Amino acid sequence: MKKVITYGTFDLLHYGHINLLKRAKSLGDYLIVVISTDEFNWNEKQKKCYFTYEQRKTLVEAVRYVDLVIPEESWEQKVTDVHEYHIDTFVMGDDWKGKFDFLEKEGVEVVYLPRTPEISTTEIKNSLATREY
Ligand code: CTP
Repeated sequence: MKKVITYGTFDLLHYGHINLLKRAKSLGDYLIVVISTDEFNWNEKQKKCYFTYEQRKTLVEAVRYVDLVIPEESWEQKVTDVHEYHIDTFVMGDDWKGKFDFLEKEGVEVVYLPRTPEISTTEIKNSLATREY
């Protein structure tokens, strides 16, 4: 069985996320999604999500392409995750292109998928904040 892993925040789940998850799953048989916890977002990125970790996890678990959701709590865990979960392929959107090539040393295929244009969580938040009704 070919196992695929991907990482992200997945706040305000949108069709760019679904498109990424669909293509990630098509690269293998079992897809693990690692979602950043609220503590990791705040401590490492000074970022506050609209939905809590548990809410984001519930939403991503409901996506048909996703087999397992686990928490992302540190930058370093990628190396241990790929071994612990016997990962074949590591997937990220191409906004991260080149950043995780070091995982190839761990025997993992690293794939950067093109982002879906014109949608992001930041874009949704900005658009709602500035919208005139
Ligand atoms: N992604 C994508 N296409 C988009 C938006 C996101 O392929 N239009 C991918 C990202 O490249 C990443 C995953 O979905 O691999 C999770 O992205 P995340 O950072 O949670 O979503 P964004 O919408 O990019 O959020 P933000 O605006 O906060 O960066």
